[in-house]
Formats: sequence, C-alpha cells, structure tokens
Amino acid sequence: MTEGSSLIRGLEGVVAAETALCDLDGAHGRLAYGGYDIDELARQATFEEVAYLLWHGELPKAGQLDQFTIALIAARPIPDALAKTFALVPKKTDPMRVLQAAVAILGMDDPDATDNWRAANVRKATRLTSQMATAICAHHRIRQGQEPVPPARDLGHAANFLYMLTGQRPSSPAAKAFDASLTLYAEHELNASTFTTRVVTSTQSDMHSAVAAGVGALKGPLHGGAGEAVMHTLFEIGEVANVDRFSEQAVATKRRLMGFGHRVYKAGDPRAAILRGMAEEACRQSGQFKWYEMAVKLHERINAAKGLIPNVDFYSAPLFYSLGIPVDLFTPVIAAGRIAGWTANIIEQYEDNRLIRPRGDYVGPKRRAYVPLRSR
Ligand code: SDX
Repeated sequence: MTEGSSLIRGLEGVVAAETALCDLDGAHGRLAYGGYDIDELARQATFEEVAYLLWHGELPKAGQLDQFTIALIAARPIPDALAKTFALVPKKTDPMRVLQAAVAILGMDDPDATDNWRAANVRKATRLTSQMATAICAHHRIRQGQEPVPPARDLGHAANFLYMLTGQRPSSPAAKAFDASLTLYAEHELNASTFTTRVVTSTQSDMHSAVAAGVGALKGPLHGGAGEAVMHTLFEIGEVANVDRFSEQAVATKRRLMGFGHRVYKAGDPRAAILRGMAEEACRQSGQFKWYEMAVKLHERINAAKGLIPNVDFYSAPLFYSLGIPVDLFTPVIAAGRIAGWTANIIEQYEDNRLIRPRGDYVGPKRRAYVPLRSR
C-alpha cells in the first residue's frame, strides 16, 4: 500500500474528478445540472434541452435547439443488422444485456467510432442518445414477435420513445411525465455507472466501449436495477392493506429494500419528491392508483422504522408502470436518460484525462518459496 493512504470501502466520499456537469448536495438533498436546479429543469426544460446543456455547458438558444433536434431525429434509425440481431437473441434475454450488446454493435457501424476529439464525441453522443432509444423499443417489439415501430419524425424524443414502444402516440401528460423522467435520470455525478464510463475513457478507449461498460454497471440491483425490484416488491405486497405486515417483516428480517437509501443523499433524494408527484398523477390517470398508495404507505412505514429515504428509483417504478412500460424495461429506460450524462462525463474526462488507477492493500500470505508439484 502506498505510504499514508488507507482503504476506503466503496470509495465512499472520495473525490475522483472535477466536474462542471452536476452539483450534488447530499447533505441538503439538492441537485443541479450546470447550475440549473433539477426541479426547474424537470418542470420547464425538455430532455433535448438538458442533453444540450450537459454537452455544451449552456441551455440552447432557439436556433441551436432546432439544429440539435434535427440531428437527434436524423440519428434515430438503427442499422438493419442490429434489428436482425435482435431477432436472433434468445427471447428471454435480459433487455439490459441486449442493450449492452447493441451499444457495442452500434460502435462497429459508427463513422466516428475511434475518433475521440470533442466534435466527434458530440456527434457520437447525439447518435447514441437517439439510437439507444430506438434499439430498446425495437428489441422489445421483436421479442414479442411484432415489427419495430419506425421513429416518428414529428414527435419529440420522449414522445417518440413511448410511440416506438407501444405503437400509440402518447397523450401530452404521459409524454411530459416521461420527458421529465429522462431529465431526472440524465446525470448524477460519479455514480457507479458514470464512474465506470470514466475509467474506460481514461485508458483512451472510445465512447461506445465506455457506454457499453456503463450499461453493465447500471444493470446491477444496487444501482439502476433497483427500479424493477421496487415494482416486484409492490407486486409481492399486492394490496395497500398488506403494507403494514410486509413492513414489519422486512424490518424484523433486516431485508434490503430496493428503492430505499442512497450513498450520498441522507436528507432526501430531490428526484424522488418530483417523481412522487408525477407518479400520483399518472397512477390516477391510468386507473392504477393502488400502486401509488402502496408506495406512499411503504415509504412512510420504512422511513419511520429505519430512517431510510426513498431514492430516485422508488417512485419512478409506479410511474413507469402506469405509463405502460414493461417492468424489465425500467432499467433500459434509465439508461436512455443516463446516456446524456454518461456521454457528457466521457467528453469531460477526455478534456482533462489521467489514467484512473487506484491501489489495493495487500493482505495475502507473506512472501514464500515455490514448492515443486512432487513435494506438495
Ligand atoms: C441509484 O450513486 C448514485 O447517484 C446512484 C443513483 C444515480 O442516479 O446514479 O442515485 C441511482 O442507484 C439509486 C440507488 C438504487 N439502489 C437501491 O435502491 C438499492 C437499495 N439501496 C441500498 O442497497 C443502499 O442504500 C445503497 C447501495 C443505495 C447505498 O448503500 P451504502 O451507501 O453502501 O450504504 P450501506 O449499504 O452500507 O447501508 C448503510 C446502512 C446499513 O445498515 P447496517 O447493515 O450497517 O446496520 O443502512 C442500511 C444497511 O443495512 N441500508 C438499508 C438499505 N440501504 C441501506 N437497509 C435496508 N434497505 C436498504 N435499501
């Protein structure tokens, strides 16, 4: 071990980069992208504006937004080879594993794949943001034996995602709620998947390799996979009347409850508060209010018993479910939002890069002489 350093499990509290993308105030439960509070961005900006802000450091002016929107729309189609691949993968394959493969395959076809200069990286970030959305939806349709729904050029990014997923043009409230969800998931400082993309980038690998690695990290239930687990918990509870008994048993058995707790937020996750309001409206609109009622009651019981706060994945689960998103697509949807932040961090890492290489503290056997096989 290098002199003077000590083990910090999970790198908790370790500052590994300077960033201008995201200001995360865990003590006070506040979050801002590029200086703009997340509540204002979620309520007033589109996901397109937020992606532009993360890549360029400023909200777009009207002309800039028009050009960016045109580029995003033009980038929506995916290569035929990728759609053909979706037809070959086993139907039961986890959609996050399919998405990770899809990103790698998109890297095979991207004209800027190995160019790491800023202009090329912004072009790749634009293509990945659009293509990942199309890929998630196309795979879902194909695994159901349906034809993919071609992207609609007249719909915004969020509305087009829901359209490609369901074949129905979404209502305005549904599109707005989904757009705000993508914004809320877009960026979150050095979370596990974003840090993964930075580690890969620090070796001077390429954006597609870094994003594929980030998808792998996000898949885990302690990170992006938590949303799906929250919905399965609500299914397990079944009815509002069962929440009390479930909560007592969970506390008694020290069960790890997905959707609760956070490494940085201790006073509360500001995203959960915004998603809670959206989930209430969406669950009411879709006639599935019981999932919202169960979530609120579970939140109250677990917070009272263990002091744990609901994180971003707690209320996004009933919201996504009421928007008709299949549960095993919750994490791919989070990836469809986080791609904006992953690519922004990749661009930022390239602009001030040093290979990321921490140390390990050796605690194995003392030095010893080799023993030949005949003597073992
Ligand atoms: C995301 O980092 C980010 O920014 C992530 C994210 C983003 O936008 O990228 O915000 C998205 O990943 C949100 C988190 C989603 N994950 C989950 O909901 C999984 C459940 N949550 C936990 O596993 C946990 O809270 C973590 C992983 C999120 C954070 O865990 P830490 O900081 O490593 O804390 P810990 O696991 O050491 O827990 C501290 C104590 C423990 O008690 P003791 O065992 O020490 O007595 O709190 C308890 C834990 O048991 N605890 C929980 C709990 N979370 C913490 N107990 C029950 N259920 C939980 N969910």
